[in-house]
Amino acid sequence: MSYQDVYAAWKNDPEAFWMEAASRIDWMTPPGKALFDERAPFYEWFSDGQLNACWNAVDRHVEAGRGDQLAIIHDSPITHSYRGITYRDLQSRVASLAGALRAKGVEKGDRVIIYMPMVPEALEAMLACSRLGAIHSVVFGGFAAHELAVRIDDCTPKAIIAASCGLEPGRIVQYKPLLDRAIELADHKPDFCVILQREQEVAKLVEGRDFAWHSFQYGVEPAECVPVAGNHPHYILYTSGTTGQPKGVVRHTGGHVVALNWTMKNVYGIDAGDVFWAASDVGWVVGHSYICYAPLFAGATTIVFEGKPVGTPDPGTFGRIIQNHKVKSFFTAPTAIRAVKREDPECSYIKDYNLKSLQAVFLAGERADPDTVKWVEEHLQVPVIDHWWQTETGWPIVANPFGIELLPVKHGSPSVPMPGYDVQVLDEAGHPVPAGTLGAVAIKLPMPPGTLPTLWNAEERFRKSYLDAFPGYYETGDAGYIDDDGYLYIMARTDDVINVAGHRLSTGAMEEVLSSHPDVAECAVIGVADPLKGQTPLGFLCLKKGSAASPEQVGREVVRMVRDQIGPVAAFKTTVVVERLPKTRSGKILRATMARIADGEDFKMPATIDDPAVLDEIRTALQGIGMAGG
Ligand code: COA
Ligand code: AMP
Repeated sequence: MSYQDVYAAWKNDPEAFWMEAASRIDWMTPPGKALFDERAPFYEWFSDGQLNACWNAVDRHVEAGRGDQLAIIHDSPITHSYRGITYRDLQSRVASLAGALRAKGVEKGDRVIIYMPMVPEALEAMLACSRLGAIHSVVFGGFAAHELAVRIDDCTPKAIIAASCGLEPGRIVQYKPLLDRAIELADHKPDFCVILQREQEVAKLVEGRDFAWHSFQYGVEPAECVPVAGNHPHYILYTSGTTGQPKGVVRHTGGHVVALNWTMKNVYGIDAGDVFWAASDVGWVVGHSYICYAPLFAGATTIVFEGKPVGTPDPGTFGRIIQNHKVKSFFTAPTAIRAVKREDPECSYIKDYNLKSLQAVFLAGERADPDTVKWVEEHLQVPVIDHWWQTETGWPIVANPFGIELLPVKHGSPSVPMPGYDVQVLDEAGHPVPAGTLGAVAIKLPMPPGTLPTLWNAEERFRKSYLDAFPGYYETGDAGYIDDDGYLYIMARTDDVINVAGHRLSTGAMEEVLSSHPDVAECAVIGVADPLKGQTPLGFLCLKKGSAASPEQVGREVVRMVRDQIGPVAAFKTTVVVERLPKTRSGKILRATMARIADGEDFKMPATIDDPAVLDEIRTALQGIGMAGG
């Protein structure tokens, strides 16, 4: 079947399409129907079925005779170590951890936070929760204690599973002090913590609260898979919104398993027994969907990579892993490719390896600029597939469906909508615009299985954030256009979210930190173009009258505060002090205009600007730090 046939099959009969996809996974009680629309615009999928996600990821492959196949390969150029875990080993490790969690009182519906680096135990912790029907929430290791505390208070976990440390090149990141601090800051206290002690850092455990990973599991009964309803929350993953309070994206179990299983074959061209590698982190949605769950649902081998594209030890790391583990499909972020290209413009390190297993490279997380795509195509001689999606959707909205057929690649476009997604570009009034016209990218409701049904404990925020702007549609927060051939182009965000090295960050959260400095009267954070990271944050500070501190000192202090309170991943390093910020007459800060000035781009004078002279002051200040063409 062609892509056109598959998309038309979905459009003509979505119910039949998704019931057929649902028949390809294991259910304890099969669903009677796919879509539950009684509470529209809040939709659910497969709510009357019963299943277990861990069973679908692990046990069913052992039953099917794949017990001796590798499920996970851990490759860590930072520790110079390699480890393979078969499906059979994974089953017994996960059952044992789940049994120990259950013995300590973790039950179906309880929340468990996981704060771990790129080690297989992170996936095992996720799967152990799934086995019990407990709802996990993985927090990225690059986030600081305050961010962890916010998440603890929002999802009120019964337990936290963490590692003693993460490893960044040349640096041990001690997780335990961050965890202890977060628990101290949070109002909610977990009943207990499980700590994976790594040999690089042995953490001090709190008597009675903390248990070491191995001794915790000693002598417990392994747990079997607990059936849950199709609409049982599988996990919560926090993502950046416009304010400092992150959004807890909820993923329901049934739709998640069905949709991800569908994508492995049809988008990524992966079958059971193949090796799939997503070089991301379990703390992001790419890690949830394509390091942990989808490759395992499909019976493939997934790679857990603890390293960086460059410097661990050189820009050939990607090639070494593809060669040594016979990777068939490789998924990374454009920023990682730009990092390799910057150090090795001829790609000679990667090309030194035997890459004949590789059939395609997938890029997502940020816009894939045509230069980057062409560079990979030229050097690796395989299709390079940009695809567009978000934490909220959990799987690709728009892609080139490599597993169905490779459509002509158009550089700069992630290609065409996947079945389940009716993608439209709307004007401000919510009307579809003609082809080629820029507008807000929206998805006609209902969204397909596997996408977010709501935000954790925040249905009203869910409605306001995504459903209210364009009734009948989900608002993606991205702007773009669709061309005459139906290809989508994503051009920018419509909100104050920025994308730094493929990481989605909230400028609002950074502004909250800046404004808490005693010498800061007012502030704004924008994203400015960066040749490596896509964007980096830039902070504008207006100091209080009579402030004795120098602009340099305040700048240094707020940089330190963002690192301490949000985390190093924010990559917040640059500030500029200005007299005043450009605003509309109603007091709204003109962040988009400031960003255009910083990037040295032309801009239209906003009709509602209060005092146009402020823009000249901003330009002069930016030129003083070498921006805005200075
Ligand atoms: N735990 C603790 N700290 C972390 C961390 C983690 N898991 N991940 C990143 N950090 C720290 C880094 O050490 C760095 O700290 P520093 O300021 O002390 O140097 C900071 O956060 C910024 O990290 P990063 O964004 O990774 O920048 P970098 O300069 O170290 O590396 C790239 C640049 C492009 C190589 C890197 O960003 C990369 O590989 N990006 C791919 C992104 C990706 O996979 N995104 C997922 C979406 S698909
Ligand atoms: P996240 O939720 O962290 O995955 O970030 C999702 C956001 O990243 C999207 O809404 C886009 O703004 C951006 N993004 C992700 N993939 C792409 C892509 N292929 N092209 C353009 N932007 C992308």
